[in-house]
Amino acid sequence: MSRADVIVKGGLNMTEMIKERQEGIFLPFAPREYNEVGEEAIAVHWKEEELIQPKEEFIRQANMTDVGIYERFSEKNYPECFKEYADMLSWDRYWTETLDASNPPFFKWFVGGKLNACYNCVDRHLQKYGNKAAIIFAPEPEDEPYQFITYRELHRRVNEFAALLLDMGVKENDVVTFHLPMVAELPISMLACARIGAIHSEVFGGFSSKAVAERADDAESKVLITMDSYHRSGRVIDHKARADESVNQCKETKIEKVLIWERYPGKYSSSTPLVEGRDYLINDLLENYRGRRVKPLSKPAEDTLFLMYTSGTTARPKGCQHSIGGYLSYVAGTSKHLFDIHPEDTYWCLADIGWITGHSYIVYGPLSIAATSVIFEGTPTYPDAGRSWRIAEDLHVNIFHTSPTMIRMIRRDGPDEPDKYNYHFKLMCTVGEAIEPEVWRWYYDKVGKGEATIIDTWWQTENGGVIGSNLPALRAMKPGSCGIGMPGIYPVIFDEHGNEIEKGSGKAGNICIKRPWPGSFQTIWKDPDRYVETYYSKYSKLGSKDYRDYYYFAGDGAVQAADGSFRILGRIDDVINVAGHRLGAKEIESSSGTNEEVAESAVVAKKDAIKGTVVDLYVVLKPGFEPSKELEAKIRNKVSTDIGPIARPSKVHIVPDMPKTRSGKIMRRVLAAISNKEDVGDVTSLANPEIVEVIKNQVQGQRESVLV
Ligand code: WTA
Repeated sequence: MSRADVIVKGGLNMTEMIKERQEGIFLPFAPREYNEVGEEAIAVHWKEEELIQPKEEFIRQANMTDVGIYERFSEKNYPECFKEYADMLSWDRYWTETLDASNPPFFKWFVGGKLNACYNCVDRHLQKYGNKAAIIFAPEPEDEPYQFITYRELHRRVNEFAALLLDMGVKENDVVTFHLPMVAELPISMLACARIGAIHSEVFGGFSSKAVAERADDAESKVLITMDSYHRSGRVIDHKARADESVNQCKETKIEKVLIWERYPGKYSSSTPLVEGRDYLINDLLENYRGRRVKPLSKPAEDTLFLMYTSGTTARPKGCQHSIGGYLSYVAGTSKHLFDIHPEDTYWCLADIGWITGHSYIVYGPLSIAATSVIFEGTPTYPDAGRSWRIAEDLHVNIFHTSPTMIRMIRRDGPDEPDKYNYHFKLMCTVGEAIEPEVWRWYYDKVGKGEATIIDTWWQTENGGVIGSNLPALRAMKPGSCGIGMPGIYPVIFDEHGNEIEKGSGKAGNICIKRPWPGSFQTIWKDPDRYVETYYSKYSKLGSKDYRDYYYFAGDGAVQAADGSFRILGRIDDVINVAGHRLGAKEIESSSGTNEEVAESAVVAKKDAIKGTVVDLYVVLKPGFEPSKELEAKIRNKVSTDIGPIARPSKVHIVPDMPKTRSGKIMRRVLAAISNKEDVGDVTSLANPEIVEVIKNQVQGQRESVLV
């Protein structure tokens, strides 16, 4: 059956659709009206962006070309519409209830159903795709060969490791904490846990040992999985050393076993010795597990697949708890329809599996639909900015996914590098923060060579999968806008009083989601009250038994254009998004506050040409301490050790006092305006308005220094 047949069967007349596109009518919306509206007058300072159409060649081959999908997933067909995604999976037992909303806002999907996530990502592909690459590992050193791991090989390795985990005493529903870098062993470990029904909790490899300890404590993990070393930007990182520190820093939990993968099997590469009875070299032990098979455990759909910790507005990170059935259905559906992954594609998501993007769109989504997914150990600008394009050329990557930060970095270091390489992307994706239209255009023209369709995907760790984006063959691209709600996702924008802001009004507000969806997290691990409070207290009728009274509060500001496209304006609380990673302001402030000299700390986001945002830290010292360069460095380093290098403030400003409201709240907004050299606005209502000028002179009078 040819692709054209598929489209005709989908009920869409392709010639007509292309003609409509050429005339500027875009399905399912008609944006011509929109062109006349103009956004200049609105709260947001962006100007109107032109619409760019996907190429006909892309549309012809796309998985989802039936505009009827929006109708199928409209509110009148909700929640049954999500059956379409769940039916992409193999179930051991079919569910009896699509959505159990009897105890809002705790929603249960596909109740009564049973399945295994590892089976769905591996075993079921063996017959048809056994010898096709599931994972291609691209090591950082370019003289090391790519490793092609077929589905059959993946099956073998996952089974053997699952058997080992069972022998290590890991049981169903235990949480196993990982601190793994970007290596094939990470998805292997995830899938092995999923196979035996254990819950994994991967902590981003670049995070500090303290961050691992805190998360392991919260999750009560007895087992930590790590690696001896890995390559990053030309250096070999002694990663196992961090595991020793993590174990020592756990307060509530005792990590009894540390399982260590070797970057080079059989050659332990870490300076730290193994601790007898605690540390185990996985690759050595695996010798005893050759050919071992473990039956995938059939799990209720509503059991937990993994935890993913994310920064909140208090110092304590939130363990977002994701389900098996709902989550996997949602990432499978979106991988197919949105990321347009076909089994014959080579898909590369240049993000870290330590973040939700990697969980959903390097591992679970792509593998559930038998994709070939590339995992890259290194950074895209080492040894030079052509690195990514060499990988793309070598591996025939045709779908490329990354974040605005990466795009800015690659552009900074090699604006013309893509021209030198012979690769062709059909689709490119961006995620994690808003992309500036200008950066978008470089991505489109240079990286995509003017051929690739771009999707801008808006979502959060909590959401499991993308919730705001255009299905790429169905809606034109608009630089800087993520597009509309995904099928079955109904976003609304509320003002502070809960009134809905109409599209095209030009006003920004708080973006919320009207109905639950299967990919959404179930709760915050061990803290259901915080889940309700953070996400459902602002605009929901708490106590109501009617799930339609509940609105998921995303915490992002947004504006909706007349054609329905959303533009995300960033976090409205004090979570700071650095390089696409969310950092809790409070988390950084509390680390800063652990220095004996520090009385008060306030963190603000400063705009940065490369990273989008960097952290600026304002500090007030306790009496008796004097500001100094050394002290600034000490505070910066403390944050870096406590949270990780990514949180390291670009600047520490030691100021005499903080601007405060009369009730004593620090006005971060004023500090942010000073950092960004913007108008501080009316400060007369502050308790201490005079301090604003003092800080302004101090901060803006400083010479910009180069940071390390
Ligand atoms: C921001 C990442 C604009 C947003 C998957 C959100 C975005 C936070 C976009 C979640 C986008 C993510 N456009 N902003 N396409 N995608 N964001 O939890 O502020 O690491 O709330 O999940 O990133 O970050 P998180």
